[in-house]
Amino acid sequence: MSKVRLYSGEIIPIEMHRVSTVHPIRLIPVEDRVAALDEAGNCSYNLKSEDVFIDMVTDSGFNAMSDAQAGAFHLADFAYAGSTTYYKMAAKIKEILGKEYFLPVHQGRACEQMLARSFVRKGDLIPTNFHFCTFLAQTRLQGGELVEFLQDKGLTTGGEDGFKGDYDIEKLERFLSETPKERIPLIRIEAGTNLIGGQPISMDNILAVSAVAKKHGIRTLLDMSLVMDNLHFIKTRDEKRRDMSVREIIREMADAVDIIYFSGRKLGFARGGGICMNDHDDYITVRNNVSCFEGFPTFGGMSSAEMEAMCVGFDDTMDEDVISQGPDFIEYMVDEFKKHGVPVVTPAGGLGCHLDADRFCDHLGKKDFRGAALAAAIYIVSGARGMERGLSSEPPEDSIAPFELVRLAVPRRVYTLSHIRYVVDRVCWLYDHREMIGAMRWEDESVSAHMFIDFLRPVGDWRERLAEEYKKAGLE
Ligand SMILES: Cc1ncc(COP(=O)(O)O)c(C=O)c1O
Repeated sequence: MSKVRLYSGEIIPIEMHRVSTVHPIRLIPVEDRVAALDEAGNCSYNLKSEDVFIDMVTDSGFNAMSDAQAGAFHLADFAYAGSTTYYKMAAKIKEILGKEYFLPVHQGRACEQMLARSFVRKGDLIPTNFHFCTFLAQTRLQGGELVEFLQDKGLTTGGEDGFKGDYDIEKLERFLSETPKERIPLIRIEAGTNLIGGQPISMDNILAVSAVAKKHGIRTLLDMSLVMDNLHFIKTRDEKRRDMSVREIIREMADAVDIIYFSGRKLGFARGGGICMNDHDDYITVRNNVSCFEGFPTFGGMSSAEMEAMCVGFDDTMDEDVISQGPDFIEYMVDEFKKHGVPVVTPAGGLGCHLDADRFCDHLGKKDFRGAALAAAIYIVSGARGMERGLSSEPPEDSIAPFELVRLAVPRRVYTLSHIRYVVDRVCWLYDHREMIGAMRWEDESVSAHMFIDFLRPVGDWRERLAEEYKKAGLE
């Protein structure tokens, strides 16, 4: 159980843990928040965390560990080669995902770099349901390109379809029949589709992609970074799998694909990442790259202490009470926002609550950095830091993003319902004063980096006027 009905009839999500270690946070005055934004080039990623009251920029590496995970740190075997910790982790991967070979690396994008270096060549085309910016960047560095097959339902911010991350199987089938096989080294599936608001993919769709890939003799690659939320959605939204355990669901998914990779900053509640597979030749190819670029294959880019914690984190992930906490808080936020008319991505997805900045700031133009402007405005009126999910999140060469969203990530087990309610309250106030949010421009286009980090300047003094109005409201 992770929701309770109060005496009043209200249903609220409830934390299925108690807290034993705490980290103080502080809310700096609103004028200082405007000054902090100046120093940060108006990009939430550049803010110092000490200036942030509630940090919802990402869940990555920021999920709270369980007591068992923290305790496991002390079991670490730091041997350079053949550490006991590595074999324990490899055995956990085999037990849960059924894959024989495991390679640790330092985070998700390192997995992607190893995989792109191993399999992608100039002119290659990689089908995917939707791109993630780091995988896109790594593919392009090798001279390849992604081809997206997301169904149309995934490209809208509204609607209530439970699996908006699904592939268009017919389109994929046509593409595979028309494209020389040598140009398609793999087919990528993202489980928990980040850039469309953490929307899940259904198990039936994964099985369908897998069947088509097998028919054409192409290997499948599953990005499991966000699988925790996706597992919860399969369990709660897929009638056929309601009675399956989380372990059974993840195993069915893993068995359907050839190679799996994940950011351990998300899956496993630790700081690292990993790649696993059954094919020996593929393993040797990837292992050679890991040895060159990450570290000796039994630690790769990871600290053994983190690997011990990740091993326990995998077991934690098999518990519905653990994996439901993020989605339940996100659903609560989405429901509260909907009541107030605030435009949000629906249905509630994983990873965070995603505000639709295009609709929230429809008084601004498409090129006014609606997402970045909204993220800055939220920080001014709340001290909470979200992240723009639009142009600044894309690789440098891209000049337009499919959506301008603001993600209020819900790192797991980190914040309580009162933190969440506070953020919802301030965003609702901002929505009622949304016409005060102004445009942003590049500070200097030649140094704009994307991949989350940009330097922007506001057009006019709208941030100061917004801060003034907020103070007048007596909420500070
Ligand atoms: C779906 C997905 N894949 C890959 C990554 C990259 O992982 P990392 O941030 O650990 O490099 C992320 C990170 O947000 C992600 O959400």
